[in-house]
Amino acid sequence: MVSLLRLMRYLRGHRVAVGTSMLLMLLATAATLVQPQVVEWAVDFGIGQGDVQTVAIATLVLVGAAVASGALHFASGLVLTRAGQGMAYNVRNALFGTILSLSFSNLDRWRTGELIVRCTSDVTTVRMFVRMGFLMMMQSLAMLGGSLALMFRTNAELARIMLAIFGGTLALFLVLATVIRPLIMRVRERLDALNNTLQENLAGAKVVRAFARQRYERGRFEERNRAFLHLSLRVGYIISMAFPFLFFLGQMALVAVTWVGGLAIIEPAAERFAAGLTLGQLVAFNEYAMLAMWPILALGMTLQFLTRAAASAVRIEELLAEQPDIVEPDEPRPVAGRPPTVEFRDVSFAHGRGEPAVSGVNLRIEAGETVGIIGPTGSGKSTLAALIPRYYDPDSGTVLVAGVDTREAAISELRRTAIVALQESLLLTGTIGENVGYAAGGAGDGAHGEATAPGAAFPHPRLRRAAELASAGDFISEKENGWDEHVGERGVGLSGGQRQRVAIARAIAADPDILVLDDVTSALDAQTEREIVSNLYRELADKTVIVISQRVNTVRLADRIVVMEDGGISGVGTHESLLETNAIYREIAETQSSELRV
Ligand SMILES: Nc1ncnc2c1ncn2[C@@H]1O[C@H](COP(=O)(O)OP(=O)(O)OP(=O)(O)O)[C@@H](O)[C@H]1O
Ligand SMILES: [Mg+2]
Repeated sequence: MVSLLRLMRYLRGHRVAVGTSMLLMLLATAATLVQPQVVEWAVDFGIGQGDVQTVAIATLVLVGAAVASGALHFASGLVLTRAGQGMAYNVRNALFGTILSLSFSNLDRWRTGELIVRCTSDVTTVRMFVRMGFLMMMQSLAMLGGSLALMFRTNAELARIMLAIFGGTLALFLVLATVIRPLIMRVRERLDALNNTLQENLAGAKVVRAFARQRYERGRFEERNRAFLHLSLRVGYIISMAFPFLFFLGQMALVAVTWVGGLAIIEPAAERFAAGLTLGQLVAFNEYAMLAMWPILALGMTLQFLTRAAASAVRIEELLAEQPDIVEPDEPRPVAGRPPTVEFRDVSFAHGRGEPAVSGVNLRIEAGETVGIIGPTGSGKSTLAALIPRYYDPDSGTVLVAGVDTREAAISELRRTAIVALQESLLLTGTIGENVGYAAGGAGDGAHGEATAPGAAFPHPRLRRAAELASAGDFISEKENGWDEHVGERGVGLSGGQRQRVAIARAIAADPDILVLDDVTSALDAQTEREIVSNLYRELADKTVIVISQRVNTVRLADRIVVMEDGGISGVGTHESLLETNAIYREIAETQSSELRV
């Protein structure tokens, strides 16, 4: 509930709308509440006295009040719709901003499905509450309060009975809300689980088919779907069970009015309860009891809105409160423009609570040096590379780029200075030109579409050169649409090797001082791989280039080779020296040369 209230800060800019809507709603309620008074007047002074004119006037007033009430309700809802949508818009933007601020380790903890539900379905639930639930709740309370006040004015004794009944109903309502809230929270969690299954299935749709695991996946989905269904049904049952109770209590109000009020009118002389009641007042009371019934039922409905919205609000706040593990320093030290050295000082790092992926690493790479990193799979090569642009912070030790502790550099500057072409070579939906130019600053503009404007070079020479260096120029020009060839989701439409070359070009085009290729040449033949790496070493002579590869023939092109094993560095040297001193390197070299001979 507290979270829901806190979320209301996103109504900023819509406060006037909410206020206007509430005012219109109160006016509408007043127009409704005045009706029983008119009826009372009509009965006591019109019907009772046989005065047709009074009855006619009362009827006209009733019609006017009904029309006014309807129109005011309509206007109130309309105004609030805007506010609700505006708030949802603000919350979605805030959530997306938070997601963008999350660092690699945050992202390792969250699952995509959870993030999606929070940005979509949870926001909708809160919006529905603002639009429907909140208005309904306020309206019900106003109606209930108004009816009670007017009842007290008409006849205090009878009104007290009503107060007891309505009070009991409200108490029941609150108990229900408390019981149901944890259940609804669990419903949302099961929806998360369902969405995760769906999301992973869509992302891995081809894997499922390749291994003919549809039946297994269907079973898994059905199981989660069933868990969701059962819990949703339980919540539904409890709420439907509550309704007759609330309704019953409302009926009791009518019964009480009829019995107590009726007796008071039949025997006016007796010193009874509710003495002095007129017939008109009894009719008015009856109407108030009816009017009060509607808000009681509506409160039952808002119970759903409220509890769901409260549960969703908790989840939204939870994501909004997620703090990025990587934070900007207060007073950043410049790294750009300085000699691009890389240094690891006694660096250790573990993903989550796992075993250290990198431990006790000491290594200094000079500006302009080329380094090859080789080692068995899982030995920590990617992790070591990820520490350079501060995708993760080391658990202990220091990583220095251009002589500056990475924790003291401005993140965006650091990440422009040092770029890792990630092992997964993820491309984004768009054209080849857009992908290559993704991080290339001004060079990315006009990589597509408007580049056909007269005078505009197409593509930008920097992108073209990056593609040449990545040996991607030829295949791009052979594509039907060349640089404008469309790349589907995650790079669909390109071969594995083409995808990797576009990813390499993207990293080169960004023009970093320190370029790390994390095994992004794995899908290429040995010949092309060598060609790209020697291109880079030659053309980017003033840059620091680190190439992670599984092939001895590739890493030996570098000035120095680093051999990794079990998160540590087992040797550093040239091809020849490592062959003599490093058993792992020798083993890798021997398997690869024997593979050649076969
Ligand atoms: N995001 C992650 N979350 C948890 N553990 C991870 C994560 N990434 C890597 N690891 C673990 O850290 C260790 C080192 O992995 P890393 O990816 O650095 O190895 P690698 O040398 O790059 O292997 P490969 O040659 O297969 O790419 C492994 O044990 C791996 O399971
Ligand atoms: Mg790796």
